[in-house]
Amino acid sequence: MNKRLVELARMAQARDRAAPPVVLLHGPTGTGKTFAARAVMRWARRTSPPMFPAYIQSFRIGDRENSMLSLFADEASFDERGERARARIGNLITADLLVIDDLGNERNPPATFEAGLASLLDQRKEKNRPTWIITNETRGDLLNKYGARNFSRIVNAAEVVKITGRDRRIHA
Ligand SMILES: Nc1ncnc2c1ncn2[C@@H]1O[C@H](COP(=O)(O)OP(=O)(O)OP(=O)(O)O)[C@@H](O)[C@H]1O
Ligand SMILES: [Mg+2]
Repeated sequence: MNKRLVELARMAQARDRAAPPVVLLHGPTGTGKTFAARAVMRWARRTSPPMFPAYIQSFRIGDRENSMLSLFADEASFDERGERARARIGNLITADLLVIDDLGNERNPPATFEAGLASLLDQRKEKNRPTWIITNETRGDLLNKYGARNFSRIVNAAEVVKITGRDRRIHA
């Protein structure tokens, strides 16, 4: 496990105010970013007192509760779907640690996504709750896709942890 990630996980557990509000886990496909984040979440649930982490993917087909793109699209609806989305987003705001996986998978984020993400990050920062964002997008892509407001919140506010190595999915 990446040593810095372990330190950042401990800082989150201690509610350390010096912890960066956003951790950007960056690296090529297959290097173990999701694996590492899931290991940290398992550890977090077993600490004393236990932490309540949350995990969501940026875009996921057929699973609206676990797809940020869908949640932000549903958020403003006055029907039951909107109700569910708002409840889920509420949980994402208060989770002790939030892992947003695969930022960039949604390809062309609509305005609801940009605004929703910025608001989510602001509310979490205000509560001193760290957000870990996993992506293999470059800085330039992040700026182009999510706009200056999100770039400021994601990249400028973040400690970047680079995950390197080989694609572990390649069967050797
Ligand atoms: N430290 C590890 N020990 C053993 N297996 C690992 C380790 N890290 C990752 N793996 C395995 O390697 C594969 C790729 O890991 P993972 O899915 O975490 O990559 P990723 O960086 O999230 O890739 P992507 O950017 O495509 O989402 C998975 O099958 C995972 O179980
Ligand atoms: Mg992954």
